[in-house]
Amino acid sequence: MTSTLQSRTSWEDLRSDFPILGQKVHGHPLIYLDNAATSQKPRAVLDCLNHYYERDNSNVHRGLHELSNRATEAYENARKRLAAYLGASADEIIFTRGTTEAVNLVARTWGEANIGPGDVILLTEMEHHSNLVPWQLLAKRQGATLRFVPVTPDGRLDLEGFDRLLDGPVKLFSFVHISNTLGTINPARELCARARAAGVATMVDAAQSAGHLPLDVREIGADFLALSGHKMCGPTGIGILHGRRDILQDMEPFHGGGEMIASVGFTESDFKPAPYRFEAGTPAIAEAIGLGAAADYVDAAGRDRIFTHDQALALQAIALLEEIPGVRILGPRDVRGGLVSFVLASAHAHDVVSMADQYGLALRGGHHCTQPLMRKLGVPAAARASFYFYNTPAEVEQFAAIIRRIHTFFA
Ligand code: ALA
Repeated sequence: MTSTLQSRTSWEDLRSDFPILGQKVHGHPLIYLDNAATSQKPRAVLDCLNHYYERDNSNVHRGLHELSNRATEAYENARKRLAAYLGASADEIIFTRGTTEAVNLVARTWGEANIGPGDVILLTEMEHHSNLVPWQLLAKRQGATLRFVPVTPDGRLDLEGFDRLLDGPVKLFSFVHISNTLGTINPARELCARARAAGVATMVDAAQSAGHLPLDVREIGADFLALSGHKMCGPTGIGILHGRRDILQDMEPFHGGGEMIASVGFTESDFKPAPYRFEAGTPAIAEAIGLGAAADYVDAAGRDRIFTHDQALALQAIALLEEIPGVRILGPRDVRGGLVSFVLASAHAHDVVSMADQYGLALRGGHHCTQPLMRKLGVPAAARASFYFYNTPAEVEQFAAIIRRIHTFFA
């Protein structure tokens, strides 16, 4: 698959690998710009899922029969594939349901063991609810408090007082790599280095970055990093928690059940080493294998190129939106990933998104699971266009024309 892809890597060719994009919606060619919510899936991933269910479907790590051995091998190969994708070792890769479950895993296990009364968990004001609510729950259980790195009016982290915020009983700094609302790219490596120098553990929410730019966990230097497979051409219901080996080996299990044990007695059990002790029950086998195929696909397309392409589409969209009177763009202009949230003075975001749908244009509208950030920015709801490598400059033109039409309708 990879070699075929590498021989035909024009964006048009890659786009033709996505069967869903060829359809009409409400009589118009689909323009899918909701990639930050979930990406579409290439034929290679769909074929991989089909192949698995048609040929290999079986439970992993249990059977002594051919199909189970094949399923186990494919599942463990996917773990190795994702390790390579992140510059990690396979035993540092835990399959989870997605970023949300990965954050909850860390909060429940590492968090309960390392964060106590009076301790501080440092977050930023631009966190998705998935990297906020689990820490709120942990803080409540443990008697800890939350602190936040502020966001500037133009949507960057205000790092002036960062070292002061790291001072005192701060145990963990968890932050988003690319904001799903602002598009801001946070300097993950620098933030982790500064936190580490202060003796603070780090976690990176890479949900919006993992499929869009090269990521190397050793270079970033975080203790934990989480991603969601469905935002990088993979299936839903599968994600990754990467944790440093020495930290994972000391962590208590998350869920208890089959597969994560070494031996079980009536009153006590012993557990397998990481990563298996964190994968209780039958895992999402097909989805993990599909995610391995997605990693192959995204890497063959080239994460450097994808980043440049997506960012160019975002900047094109901003330039065209700014021609509309009264439009407000959220987030910075320069350091930005491939998404643009915006507010029209003339129309509520939900009306914008509903009307756009009538033209076959898929956007997201609302608070984008960042309610505290939106409140701080004084924006109850925003519309958002989010791009991926199969989107085209022509689609951005059409998007802007549709938004202009909607503005004229409501103005
Ligand atoms: N976190 C996803 C988004 O921003 C669901 O749309």
